[in-house]
Amino acid sequence: MRLAVNVDHFATLRQARRADEPEPVLAALLAEQAGACGIVTHLRSDRRHIQDRDLRRLRDVLKTQLNLEMAATPEMKAIALEVKPDVISLVPERPEELTTQGGLDVAARRASLAPFIRALSRAGIRVSIFIDPDPGQIRTARGLGVDLIEINTGTYADLKPGPARNKALASVRSAAALGRRLGLEVHAGHGLDYRNVGPIVAVPGVEELSIGFAIVARAAIVGVQAAVREMRALIETR
Ligand code: PXP
Repeated sequence: MRLAVNVDHFATLRQARRADEPEPVLAALLAEQAGACGIVTHLRSDRRHIQDRDLRRLRDVLKTQLNLEMAATPEMKAIALEVKPDVISLVPERPEELTTQGGLDVAARRASLAPFIRALSRAGIRVSIFIDPDPGQIRTARGLGVDLIEINTGTYADLKPGPARNKALASVRSAAALGRRLGLEVHAGHGLDYRNVGPIVAVPGVEELSIGFAIVARAAIVGVQAAVREMRALIETR
C-alpha cells in the first residue's frame, strides 16, 4: 500500500498570516524524500490554502505524482488542462465546509460529469472520483469511464472503535471489493490518522491512501520527514 501526502494545510498555516512560510512546495519535496508516492493538493475555488502559484511550482518540481483535487467547474477544468497533473480527483466543494464533506454524488451529476471527465482523459490525465462507499455510486463512476476511485473513509474516521465503526469499515471493504471487480484502481482517504489507519490498511484491494491533516499536524511537532516515515511504517505493513 502506498502513501500519498496532502500538503494543503502547510498552506493553511501560511495563509493564516498571509506570509511566505511555511512553504508547501518544500514540505512536498521533503515528503517525497521520506517516501511518499505522490503529493495531493486541493485548489479550492476560495483559495483558502493552496494558491495557483503553489500548484504550478508543485508541477515543476515534483519527482513523483501530482494529484490535484478539485471541483468539477469550468475554472478548474481550464487550470487542470494547463497544469496537467498526473491525476485529477474530482471532489464536491461547498464554500462553508471546513473540509470536503462526503463523496461526489456522481449519480446526480452524471450528465455534466461525463463530458468533463472525457476532456480530462483526452488530455492524458488520469481521473479519480472521491466517492462514498455506496455500490450505486461506484457503478455509476465506472460507467463514467474513470480510471480510479478514492473511497471516502470520513464516516469510518469520525467514529470511535465499536459496532458503528465496524459497520462503516465493512462498507469500505465492500466498496473496495466492488471497485476491484469493476476493474478500477482503488484508493481511500479522509480523516485517517496514526491511530485509526490500521483497519483501513487491512482492507484488501486498496492500493493507496491519501492523508493530509494528521501528517501536517504531526509534522509541526516532529518535522515533515519523521511524520511521513511514521505513517509509512504503519501503512506499508502490506
Ligand atoms: N481525500 C480527499 C478527497 C480530500 O478532500 C481530503 C482532504 O483534503 C483528503 C483525502 C485528506 O483528508 P485528511 O486531511 O483528513 O487526511
